[in-house]
Amino acid sequence: MSNITILDEATANKIAAGEVVERPVSVVKELVENSLDAGANRISVELTQGGITGIKVVDNGYGMPAEDVQLCFLRHATSKIKRAEDLNSILTLGFRGEALPSIAAVSKVTLTTRTEDELAGTTMQIEGGYMQNVVPTGCPVGTIIEIKDLFFNTPARRKFLKTANAETSQVSDLITRLAMARPDVRFELRSGNRVLFSSPGTGSLKDTAAVIFGLDNVRSMLEIGYQGKLLSVAGLISKPVLTRASRHYQNFFINGRYIRSGFLSSILQQAYDTLIPAGRFPIAILHIDIDPTQVDVNVHPTKMEIRMAREGEIQEELLAALSDSLNVPTAITGLWEIMPGRTKNTATDQRAENLEVKPDSKEKELQPKESQHPRLVACDLPSGKIMPPRHDQEQLHFSSRRIAPVRGKNSLLPDEGSSINREEIPPVVDVKEQQLKENPNTYQPAETLGFPVLVPAGQVPPTYVLAHGEGGLYIIDQHAAHERVLYEKYLYLLGNYVEAQMLLEPLTLEIPHHEAQLIIKHIVDFNELGFILEHFGGDTFLLRGVPTNAITEPKEVFLDLLARLQENPSQKVEKNLVLDHLAAAMACRDAVKSGQHFSAVETKALLDGLARCQKPYTCPHGRPTLIQISQEELKKRFKR
Ligand SMILES: Nc1ncnc2c1ncn2[C@@H]1O[C@H](COP(=O)(O)OP(=O)(O)OP(=O)(O)O)[C@@H](O)[C@H]1O
Ligand SMILES: [Mg+2]
Repeated sequence: MSNITILDEATANKIAAGEVVERPVSVVKELVENSLDAGANRISVELTQGGITGIKVVDNGYGMPAEDVQLCFLRHATSKIKRAEDLNSILTLGFRGEALPSIAAVSKVTLTTRTEDELAGTTMQIEGGYMQNVVPTGCPVGTIIEIKDLFFNTPARRKFLKTANAETSQVSDLITRLAMARPDVRFELRSGNRVLFSSPGTGSLKDTAAVIFGLDNVRSMLEIGYQGKLLSVAGLISKPVLTRASRHYQNFFINGRYIRSGFLSSILQQAYDTLIPAGRFPIAILHIDIDPTQVDVNVHPTKMEIRMAREGEIQEELLAALSDSLNVPTAITGLWEIMPGRTKNTATDQRAENLEVKPDSKEKELQPKESQHPRLVACDLPSGKIMPPRHDQEQLHFSSRRIAPVRGKNSLLPDEGSSINREEIPPVVDVKEQQLKENPNTYQPAETLGFPVLVPAGQVPPTYVLAHGEGGLYIIDQHAAHERVLYEKYLYLLGNYVEAQMLLEPLTLEIPHHEAQLIIKHIVDFNELGFILEHFGGDTFLLRGVPTNAITEPKEVFLDLLARLQENPSQKVEKNLVLDHLAAAMACRDAVKSGQHFSAVETKALLDGLARCQKPYTCPHGRPTLIQISQEELKKRFKR
């Protein structure tokens, strides 16, 4: 006799529900996605006790004809695909035909719906997967789904629910992301009779973002619009001045679907490389459209993860698109953006912070009322004109780091007839420097397109220089700006010439135990990159060689590099990381310091150098190199 039983549909659905319906937010996601697929442009979500005892979703979509009402709760019942091949080019959010049966298996559902063609609508009740009754009813075109007592028949699941506030917070987070996905749809989220969130539904992403992040923050974001070979990108990304402590404020939408993606997040981070401080993350709302045949959305029942074909090419194209969008004069920090109290603690910003899902937090229930939303106005993002590049042929001759110019070690003046100060030379021979001397034209970057034409206007001791240009007044941090200039130069030089140089005397490194493990793990990578290390036993190492022309303090630079790796131990010791680190360390050390007097000629040399940087607007550590006070700002301040 067979031991195997085929489970009945209700039991099978109950089991399958485990994958799709984890908590109230998953129910809301499925229901709202159905509303979007049904063409709704108004969707309201009402929660009772964070959705644990009640969720009601009302939409003004196409609705369902009476005969579909009974079908829609059956497993694999869908109107969105007809055959397996359709999976290759999915343009709807749903397609698996399992959300409604899964939800109905673990709750009590009432569905009311009507299409335009029908005079009367239909109401149906289904409890724990078992149909109760179906009756005709009067209702507007669209669909209303009410869910009561989630997990009433699966106590194990119910036990894992958090507090009502925590569940509400997750739903708020979801709805704000869906609102960013579909700025043309008016979303409303209520808890009881309180409106927690409502999006304008004007079709403008900026309007929607203003409600979520606050108007001021949106004004500090750059618009991105890119159409390329493989993909197109539209959306908003924050200027380097606006960052957050987590990736929570990054929103990626592939073909209209909100997804979580470490891959896209890391590309975004790469685009901001050296533009923002370590440990900070940009805000982004990125709509990326890719040929649907190149995307597999059927990876997980929740459809929040996807697979992409041609990842390498996508990475390259997206990175270029993002980097170009960041390298524009509008990325310059405006004075208004760093005024105290500008962006912090506005009601909306505070709410955005609150929306962060803190697993076990007992934070207060989200309180913002609709009236607290800033008035929605068309956001006038700072309009920086793209200036034509200058055509003067003058090239900046960088002071080489070991060459002592007449006016001091780090003069910005051309190094003519300077000699190498032997005393400062470390026990490595600076081969590249030699090479540079022989061919001083090795490093000749072109001017950055759109960098403002700046006229030096004096120095503000101890560390700032002033300049003016078409965009208004500019205050330049001489150290940060020089650091950026030197960093890009050193990166270029190191990138062209990396080789280990053996030290005459090995340096002994006593390393804390956890860092020693890191060295052991990466010792081969380090060796390949010019740091020749030998494990001396225990937590002691000998540093026998260092990258050629890299450093005057090899030990310090190596330990710094190690500390940086320690912050993120899973990071691979890649060549770029090491070069980047070395270049930044060298630039920081060699850049002019606060208090150093600048002549007009030196100021001009600095500004010219900055104009030729690839990323001129921040230092390699992500601090601004220059701040702009626009003509409009000046007029406003002087009450003109
Ligand atoms: N709000 C709605 N308006 C109109 N039709 C709806 C609505 N919700 C569900 N439907 C219909 O019910 C069907 C089943 O919905 P269900 O969410 O279970 O599956 P799906 O959306 O097709 O796929 P998935 O399981 O991936 O979400 C849908 O294909 C659609 O035809
Ligand atoms: Mg669905």
